[in-house]
Amino acid sequence: MQRTSGHIGERRRLASPYPLGIVAAQALRRRRFQPPPSQLAEIMAKSVYIRTYGCQMNAYDSARMAEQLGLYDYREVDEPEAADLVILNTCHIREKAAEKLYSDLGRLRPLKREREEAGRDFVVAVAGCVAQAEGDGVAARADLVDLVIGPQAIHRLPEMLARNARARGQEIDVDFAPVEKFDRLGPERAPSAPSAFLTIQEGCDKFCTFCVVPYTRGAEVSRPIAAIEAEARSLIEGGAREITLLGQNVNAWRAPAATRGIRANRDGSWGLGQLCRHLARLDRLERLRFTTSHPRDMDDDLIDAFASVEVLMPFLHLPAQSGSDAVLAAMNRGHTSKHYLGLVARLRAARPDIALSSDFIIGFPTETVSDYRATLGLVEEVGFAAAYSFKYSRRPGTPAAAAPKQVPEDEKDRRLADLQSLIERQRKAFNARQIGRALPVLFEKAGRHAGQLVGRSPYLQSVHAEAPDSMLGRIAPVTIVGLTPNALAGRLAAA
Ligand code: SAH
Ligand code: SF4
Ligand code: F3S
Repeated sequence: MQRTSGHIGERRRLASPYPLGIVAAQALRRRRFQPPPSQLAEIMAKSVYIRTYGCQMNAYDSARMAEQLGLYDYREVDEPEAADLVILNTCHIREKAAEKLYSDLGRLRPLKREREEAGRDFVVAVAGCVAQAEGDGVAARADLVDLVIGPQAIHRLPEMLARNARARGQEIDVDFAPVEKFDRLGPERAPSAPSAFLTIQEGCDKFCTFCVVPYTRGAEVSRPIAAIEAEARSLIEGGAREITLLGQNVNAWRAPAATRGIRANRDGSWGLGQLCRHLARLDRLERLRFTTSHPRDMDDDLIDAFASVEVLMPFLHLPAQSGSDAVLAAMNRGHTSKHYLGLVARLRAARPDIALSSDFIIGFPTETVSDYRATLGLVEEVGFAAAYSFKYSRRPGTPAAAAPKQVPEDEKDRRLADLQSLIERQRKAFNARQIGRALPVLFEKAGRHAGQLVGRSPYLQSVHAEAPDSMLGRIAPVTIVGLTPNALAGRLAAA
């Protein structure tokens, strides 16, 4: 049976015969992880395997889904074979994202068949941006999929599972409901790792001509300050010492000003800079970061926050995409390379040691050799600590996919290889400059070798050092003594 399905952008309320969503929300609003109500018996005490693709926003959504299921005593397991419920939290940004999903689903098919023959549960849920973009197409193409759940409907997962347990059949919920999502999930968070994500903004109104995100995550929506603060407090209480504020366009975040003592914008609003100042006052919050920022939304107050907010780490991911103004215009980025370089100069004036990273797309339609050289020029001029670069790939439904002047694949390959080697040289040089310095490192987890912990420097580099487990969740100075391919090797410095 195929139940009611929603389509992208369509507002749809599922009339749930079960009060599970409400019960779950209430349980979350009470203290965390109280015993779940008995009427949820049909979905209780099972195991879930969640695979997360894509950006940190998906990682955040996966954590929130796991927490919701935790209310019903679900255990998280690390392989699908051990699970009663498998959630694939998908990303749509790369080429062939949907094909990848279908091949992952194909691998789950024998497991599903085996369970069905044994009369046992094996629920398959597809979440994330492919779910949003393909909607009921996923259910139609892969009959083993039970639930298709968009990124802004994840709060309805328990009630969808309960309906599925009572009457089998596929259900699709790809409603855009970001406000309801956060209201229903509530601010209470499960005990946290030392570094935690907190989504403060969803969606994108920028419509870069290459990008699917405005279609998969909907319009820009900012969460209110009180909800963000409550969630931050809960994370800190649960062990977080570093919080990374997330949004597809995190610096487009806006809300009515909250307190005196932090100067509001002329229109009475706060932007991200003011929010950082506000959160910086939270006790025991030692580090604050945010990602991903758009050059168009880097205002003076946010730049100044890097100078004046001590807990704001000196690292900024600021995607440039290209160094050519013609390409930037064709991409509808709304900024020029001069604007980008101006921001870099102001950021460095505010915080001289700030480390910058970026995203670049190579081989965007119409990109000429001189456009591409302009990108190399911008990278040379800025000097990045790290950067991601991608070959342009057509995303169906986006304007650039239909552009006539596509760059041949082999040419894209050559340009990308050159750019990546330049970026890699810059990354290595940046890391090498840390040798001999004592950097404060927040230890986050055990390392690969016994007695070793891994943490992050202020510049987001992974650092490993011999340290006792008691240092987990603490910041300590580490003298950098060497480099490994992807990390810094350090020694705990005498305090
Ligand atoms: N909101 C962020 C980007 C989110 S997508 C921003 O505006 O910068 C992450 C990155 O994927 C983008 O920065 C871009 O470099 C890359 N990307 C997105 N669509 C792409 C496409 N069609 N082809 C190649 N790379 C793409
Ligand atoms: Fe995509 Fe552009 Fe929005 Fe970033 S700003 S999410 S690249 S449309
Ligand atoms: Fe991917 Fe969606 Fe994030 S397309 S990059 S998971 S917003």
